[in-house]
Amino acid sequence: MNIPDIQSPSVASSFDVQRIRASFPNLHREVHGNPLVYLDNAATAQKPQLVIDRLNRYYSRENSNVHRGVHTLSQEATDAYEGARERIRAFINASSNHEVIYTRGTTEAINLVASTFGRKHLSAGDEILISTMEHHSNIVPWQMLCEEKGATLRVIPISKAGEIEYDAFLSMLSERTKIVAICHISNTLGTINPLDRMIADAHRYGATVVVDGAQAVPHMRVDVQALDVDFYCFSSHKMFGPTGIGILYGKESLLEAMPPYQGGGDMIDTVSFEKTTYNTLPHKFEAGTPHIAGGIGLGAAVEYMESIGLETIAEYERDLLAYGTEQLRSIEGVRIIGTASQKASVLSFLIGDIHPYDTGTILDRLGIAVRTGHHCTQPLMDHWGLPGTARASLAFYNTREDIDALVAGIRKVKTFFE
Ligand code: ALA
Repeated sequence: MNIPDIQSPSVASSFDVQRIRASFPNLHREVHGNPLVYLDNAATAQKPQLVIDRLNRYYSRENSNVHRGVHTLSQEATDAYEGARERIRAFINASSNHEVIYTRGTTEAINLVASTFGRKHLSAGDEILISTMEHHSNIVPWQMLCEEKGATLRVIPISKAGEIEYDAFLSMLSERTKIVAICHISNTLGTINPLDRMIADAHRYGATVVVDGAQAVPHMRVDVQALDVDFYCFSSHKMFGPTGIGILYGKESLLEAMPPYQGGGDMIDTVSFEKTTYNTLPHKFEAGTPHIAGGIGLGAAVEYMESIGLETIAEYERDLLAYGTEQLRSIEGVRIIGTASQKASVLSFLIGDIHPYDTGTILDRLGIAVRTGHHCTQPLMDHWGLPGTARASLAFYNTREDIDALVAGIRKVKTFFE
């Protein structure tokens, strides 16, 4: 693995992490009498006060339905909700607001594509490619679609380090490949997949590329136009926004040609008992009263991240990951799972034969929050014959002191099993 020089002067030294941490109230609580060390950001991230305040303001001052009323409150709520969509559009550099669909999260975004685009375009004999490192939410919807259509789900192998076997990927592409569904960053391994190349190669065969970006958007600048990606899915709660809201980005031409996902209010143009016509994008895919506060809160989270700068965040976290990798490697018996040359923000590990649940439970008693288990990537664990891992996952509010606490915690865990 390429570890940057952790001593080099960088943004890490100028980044005022204590000022950042002061904006996150939940980071300052105690767990079992110890200061919280929160290292479970890949599961969900903490929320800055700005986001909490924005939700509070919506519910206490603006609460009203959107797109439905001429009254002042409804117009204010609509402006805030649609303003957030515009902020999110700019954040991922989509070319139009029509391409930014609010969903419940990454999982719903992927299911939406499978249920609409997939159902329309897949036939028996077609193939969908996914990779060994996918999250269940980027496996099961495609499995369901393949079962329904008589299509085949094929799995791109990965190396021992946890990288796509690129030659195998190339050899699996063919005219039969209709969809390539791939994570941008693996939630379990931290691998950053080579999306530029993968998308270009998939497109040469006419395949449509769906990216699970849940683990990427909190850590790096994502430009959907530069990637030329067809669909890109992500969740608000992993990027410091509220739960229950996320985004499906899709190219406008694809979204236009897709049938709606759910029927109901807001997604229609006209309804009669004989025939319904559908609303324009993005509303065609947004049936029912949406998670208004969620959209507005996500907009606030984007504003917060932009105020720090995605490039700054990425550089700071690169330094922290390099430090964490070096520190964990220095502990006898610790094995890091996932050693790709391009990695972000995830340290999955095992301590000798100690079960990850035991590791996680003891760390929790010390106030250290890590995730344990299969991380919703059961096939990946089965592939490597692992019972699961303990996973520390970083955000820009984590510090070297957090890593030091983790290292001390791991040493403590070891003492229980000596
Ligand atoms: N997908 C989330 C994780 O990796 C929940 O923990």
